[in-house]
Amino acid sequence: MIRTAADIIECCRYLATFTEEPGRTTRTFLSPPMRQVHEFLSEDMRAAGLDVFIDNVGNIFGRSPKNTRPRILIGSHLDTVPDAGAFDGILGVVMGIALAHRHPIDVIGFSEEEGVRFGIPFIGSRAYIGTLDLTSEISQAIRDYGLNPSSLPKYEPHDVYLEFHIEQGPLLESLNLPLAVVTAIISQRRVQLVFQGKANHAGTTPMSLRADALAAAAEWICIVERTAKECKGLVATVGRVQVEPNAGNVIPGKVALSLDVRHASDSIGEEATAKLLQCARQIAERRGVQTQIESLFSQPTVSMDEKLVATLTEVVGHQMTSGAGHDAMIVAERVPSAMMFLRSPGGISHHSDESVFVEDVAAALEVGSRAIQLLRESYA
Ligand code: GLV
Ligand code: MN
Ligand code: MN
Repeated sequence: MIRTAADIIECCRYLATFTEEPGRTTRTFLSPPMRQVHEFLSEDMRAAGLDVFIDNVGNIFGRSPKNTRPRILIGSHLDTVPDAGAFDGILGVVMGIALAHRHPIDVIGFSEEEGVRFGIPFIGSRAYIGTLDLTSEISQAIRDYGLNPSSLPKYEPHDVYLEFHIEQGPLLESLNLPLAVVTAIISQRRVQLVFQGKANHAGTTPMSLRADALAAAAEWICIVERTAKECKGLVATVGRVQVEPNAGNVIPGKVALSLDVRHASDSIGEEATAKLLQCARQIAERRGVQTQIESLFSQPTVSMDEKLVATLTEVVGHQMTSGAGHDAMIVAERVPSAMMFLRSPGGISHHSDESVFVEDVAAALEVGSRAIQLLRESYA
């Protein structure tokens, strides 16, 4: 039974053992360990009095029969990055279940937020609000899991969405504060870029006759870093590089890279992305290499709901913006949404050392409870 802060932490650490890779936590969209997560959380949701339903994109939804106006939904995501910590995403789902023991609320665990498996993030929350475009890969993954992609979920929109999440940065710790209310989540875009050169023998091909895709990619990656360093507030990351054929004695023929660009200003983020892609084309041309560019995802900066932020701020006081993306930025398109951050010890996240303080989780539970009461009063 998940009721206390200690239960929540123990549960998150246990769920981190449900993984695709022995010895480290990696759980991508509809991968086999997601089934264990569904089973485990179904039981916990039922114990909290919720009716449980797994929808056709793998979101787990716990519905309280007593959730009346405002119909409140609390949740976050079930998937992880590779070699993840135990709290990113899942903490918000398990916190929701703990709060469901005290209040008639619905709880959701979104099946995909990180964008690791297909490079495309927010599959779960976009299905919840009804804006998910299925690709053939996503449909196949849904079928492979035993679900039906031709019957996407239809949720009656809730009145309120609340998401508890670790901060994933150092700010709260530096201020010696346990919690903050999120006012906005900054814009992001994700692109897949391929440098197509020519694989050839590493011993016999003169340097002047090569079209080395990895050398082009390396030059470009350094420009990505420099561009972001030179622009205040801009972060740009090449986090994934796949080299073909990836052998020590073969000139790299093809390199596929991810690009992730974020800024609080949509236009600065857009301009920076366009500039970086133009640089990639120029580098490729100079080196006799081809490029293929595919935009996978683009999301403007999203403000959290003003009224909800005001309510949460009555209880918590401190406000901040989020550099990380969250399901709340998608759900906000249909449902008034707000977020609460919990301090991240050491500012560490997307890393196996990620943690939370038990007293911060306890504080978040109390704040969540109080906020639910205030919301019910304000709608009465
Ligand atoms: C989610 O973790 C993101 O911000 O990429
Ligand atoms: Mn994450
Ligand atoms: Mn997350």
